[in-house]
Amino acid sequence: MYDPAAYSIDLNQWPNVKVTPPGPESERLHGRASAIMKGLSGQVRLFPVVFSEGRGCTLTDVDGNRYIDFSSGIYVTTLGHCHPKVSEAVAKWAGRLMNAHDFTTPVKVELLEKLLEVLPKGYGGVQLYDSGTTAVEAALRTCRAATGKHEFISCFMDFHGKSGHAVSLARMNSFYGPTRAPGFYMVPRPDTYRPWWTRTDGSLDTEKYLEFYDEFIKEGTTGQIAAFVLEPIQGWGGTIMPPDDFFGKLRKFCDERKILLVADEVLTSMGRTGKYLCMEHWDVVPDVVTLGKGFGNGFPVTAMVVKEQYADAVDKISASTSYGGNPMACAAALACIEVIEEEGLLAHATELGQYFTKRMTDWVKKYAIVGDTRCKGCLMGVELVKDKNTKEPFDEAGKMVYQKAFTKGLAWIPAGHILRMSPPIIMPMDVAAKAMDIIEEAIAETQKELGY
Ligand SMILES: Cc1ncc(COP(=O)(O)O)c(C=O)c1O
Repeated sequence: MYDPAAYSIDLNQWPNVKVTPPGPESERLHGRASAIMKGLSGQVRLFPVVFSEGRGCTLTDVDGNRYIDFSSGIYVTTLGHCHPKVSEAVAKWAGRLMNAHDFTTPVKVELLEKLLEVLPKGYGGVQLYDSGTTAVEAALRTCRAATGKHEFISCFMDFHGKSGHAVSLARMNSFYGPTRAPGFYMVPRPDTYRPWWTRTDGSLDTEKYLEFYDEFIKEGTTGQIAAFVLEPIQGWGGTIMPPDDFFGKLRKFCDERKILLVADEVLTSMGRTGKYLCMEHWDVVPDVVTLGKGFGNGFPVTAMVVKEQYADAVDKISASTSYGGNPMACAAALACIEVIEEEGLLAHATELGQYFTKRMTDWVKKYAIVGDTRCKGCLMGVELVKDKNTKEPFDEAGKMVYQKAFTKGLAWIPAGHILRMSPPIIMPMDVAAKAMDIIEEAIAETQKELGY
């Protein structure tokens, strides 16, 4: 069961920002790095802090500033930084056998069997990779091999990685790619806050989305759709939740048309939302799932998992890679699952989510600039708007809240007008409360400064 004492921190000591970040040492080191390192993320460009240490749900920078971690890197360190069991497992294999191509190793066997034990019934084929993107690419090739069909449908604002076909599943404008690959099509996905199609009472009409998909397949594609690929909850897109009836209906829609359903769970799996797979919230079992980020808690290990009946298709795609499934990677992923089980972390992530939901629901009532809040376990989003009726995005407010909270000691992810939050699921309740206080203070100050 979850033991808060294992992760407790002294809230008189944490957070503690002595020097306004980025402090002088951060600036000095970042200056040296950024003279050479190009292509930095918006997160780093907005706040070029140099971190030197992470423990549990805390981070320290090179100027001695202490932060509460509310981003888990970028949805990665779900079990907190340097969980001793994960670090020891990696160190053990780093000293014994680092790579043996895709030969079986004892630790790989243990991981594969454990993974199938914790996932919903029906899965029977796994391949391991070193990034979410390669797992997604493998999923696409597997779907083509399994169905003999070649086209894909994905959703507006989803994100699946930055290689050729993964990019073709997403918005193209920021990736500098030539064009969408042939056979890749996109459709709108239901967003309860900003619905495209509604019933007469204004609520989102899921059926209308499915009617559109049907029409779109007939009119816009060759009809040879191998798979519908989507994130269960959009991460980069702003923690966009589907209505509860969506995935059940989409499963039926795909089955009726012999289209495979691929859930890209790189961001949402392994406890992030309080379940191993986010799709379990809706009792829907996708044909193919991709796992990443929290799967290795920071060690680069990812997976493509397919239902038993599609396992043979994986044999057809030349699926193995140089690093996929190396002993350190397997040890990290196995240790993560064991930690989640032994420490009762799915239940704790759910409990944290209930607390976060309660706090954030109040913000919608209390603050004029908070249009909507969303939360499943430890995956959360707050949407800031200029006006609750027009729902006009408030990017300036998003930037201000992000920077204010960071300066108060909360390390987290900026995303325009949608504040994205993904605390580690090991976080004790008092630390979670402190973090929410900091965000609320930042929202209140921002609202006042902007004259609302
Ligand atoms: C849903 C989803 N799929 C795929 C990826 C790509 O993963 P990676 O950055 O490990 O290649 C990401 C990364 O953010 C993601 O969020």
